[in-house]
Amino acid sequence: MTLKWGIAATGGIASKMAAALQTLDDAEIVAVGSRSPESATTFANKFGIPQAHGSYAELFADPNVDIVYIASPHSHHRDMAVAALDAGKHVLCEKAFAVNTTEATEMVAAARRNHRFLMEAMWTWFIPGNVELKRRIADGAIGKVLTVDADFALDISATNGRHRRADLAGGALLDLGIYPVTFACHVLDEYPDDVKAMGRLTESGVDATLAGVASFPAGALSTFQTSLDGKSGLSARIVGTAGRIEVEAPFWFASAFTVYRSGGIAERVEISNNGLAHEAAHAMERIAAGHLESDVVTLDHSLQTMRLLDEIRAQVGVIYPSET
Ligand SMILES: NC(=O)c1ccc[n+]([C@@H]2O[C@H](COP(=O)([O-])OP(=O)(O)OC[C@H]3O[C@@H](n4cnc5c(N)ncnc54)[C@H](OP(=O)(O)O)[C@@H]3O)[C@@H](O)[C@H]2O)c1
Repeated sequence: MTLKWGIAATGGIASKMAAALQTLDDAEIVAVGSRSPESATTFANKFGIPQAHGSYAELFADPNVDIVYIASPHSHHRDMAVAALDAGKHVLCEKAFAVNTTEATEMVAAARRNHRFLMEAMWTWFIPGNVELKRRIADGAIGKVLTVDADFALDISATNGRHRRADLAGGALLDLGIYPVTFACHVLDEYPDDVKAMGRLTESGVDATLAGVASFPAGALSTFQTSLDGKSGLSARIVGTAGRIEVEAPFWFASAFTVYRSGGIAERVEISNNGLAHEAAHAMERIAAGHLESDVVTLDHSLQTMRLLDEIRAQVGVIYPSET
């Protein structure tokens, strides 16, 4: 069954998703929507998309579109997702799912009242290398997990881009830190029962650099670091009672990791991936099978992630204008 996609917004990740969708047999991009008719037309021409809409509302009203991919700043996810769902579309929405748990809850309610599919685009959880990593840990490859440590820091110097703008819900955590924070949740298959974080803020009031530690119900601890001001190693390390695993950069779409078993030889596992296409293929499979959410990134996972991000933001003192 071919699913007809509409892409909402024409920025960096929208281009990457358009290219990824074009590698999937069952996906057809039928329309793009932008705040600007010129941007919509430029994007449509670049990817050979038949319909360019000069507003998001027109895209959501397009009867030819089955599923909308939302690729706007975090500040716009809730309103766009709810509008698309109320227009009867399925929705794949970029991470971070929303600005906070209140908004995420409204999105979930909109999906449920409209009986439409909704999923947060946490592509990391679908990358084959990370799926295999999680499987091995669950199978006891390194014994009981003690610690998970991951970092995602980039030098994003531009001060007027969305990353540093409080009105667009910028900051390191929602953009980059969400990966190291939830990587531990992914590999451990549970969410923390406690978290402690510290951060340094930009003059615009968003988190520039942030580090923290989380405690998980089964006993593991995770540490995470993120920043907009300098590049880190972009890797992850998992230590267990019977060995350790080092995930090569970039860990959030890992194509290689090495398992070091206590007293044994190292095994390097290499698995190629097709980037954003895996999450899109999963969403299409779930919709074709009649499901209204993912069984990998469930709506409850997205709500739990939002609660965790809310708690970390509260501890470091980041409050967005829409929250005052
Ligand atoms: N999965 C990943 O690997 C990944 C990577 C990067 C980003 N992301 C996520 O994807 C989302 C978008 O990130 P991006 O890097 O693509 O951002 P971007 O390059 O800045 O593009 C964002 C797009 O959103 C639209 N938009 C709507 N209202 C806007 C406003 N007030 N100001 C600026 N743009 C506005 C614009 O499209 P129009 O002008 O066409 O309306 C703009 O091109 C974020 O949620 C981010 O966290 C995910």
